[in-house]
Amino acid sequence: LKSFFGGGILAGVSVLISAGPTREPIDPVRYISNRSSGKMGYAIAEAAARAGAKVSLVTGPTALKTPPVNEVTWVESSEEMYRCVMSKVPFADIYIGAAAVADYAPETIADRKIKKNQSEMVLRLRKTQDILSAVSASPKRPFTVGFAAETDNLEDYAREKLATKALDMVAANWVGRDKGGFENDDNALFVCWNGGDTYLPLASKKTIAEQLIRLIAERYHAQNS
Ligand code: CTP
Ligand code: CA
Repeated sequence: LKSFFGGGILAGVSVLISAGPTREPIDPVRYISNRSSGKMGYAIAEAAARAGAKVSLVTGPTALKTPPVNEVTWVESSEEMYRCVMSKVPFADIYIGAAAVADYAPETIADRKIKKNQSEMVLRLRKTQDILSAVSASPKRPFTVGFAAETDNLEDYAREKLATKALDMVAANWVGRDKGGFENDDNALFVCWNGGDTYLPLASKKTIAEQLIRLIAERYHAQNS
């Protein structure tokens, strides 16, 4: 399998990957989450390992089996994911943020199950920390790759995220009905970096992951040579 990558294009490189959704608790039995199977992130983790990388995967709850990588850490909330990822960033050469992190979380978590004794209820939400931006702003920052899930204006939003989050690369995918992306076995990506971009047309997430790892390895080595 390594030969597919011409002898391991990421040999000896430490890659940190976040994948899957997060769960933001409302009370002991309820949470807010995002649509995400974790398949794309896991496929990227496997492709990076096949390319010879030392892979650490930080994953939210998924129904998938643990992929064959060096280290897997399970987390639930965006807060837990933030802490876990930031603790591993100093050891990473490359960070790939493929998780569907909740943008907002309940401001307070009820310590008992909320009863349906009101005709309506209001949930106050607060913005979560942006893990990807924190990684890209960290000292000794790794080569930082973000995802962008969009229903429209994909290329524009991807370029905007590349700039505003100061990323090295953005992999953007269309989401919504019949668009691949979440909870699907196939995906298509628009990938951009400073000075270039490319389309990876609809294919299995395994194929897309291999092509993305190839692009990441090229840009990473170009920056570090
Ligand atoms: N992300 C993150 N931490 C968050 C929210 C998002 O690390 N609290 C990361 C995702 O893992 C992804 C990237 O940011 O790599 C883009 O996520 P996306 O939802 O497309 O964009 P946002 O920046 O959250 O902005 P918006 O949802 O408004 O488009
Ligand atoms: Ca978001």
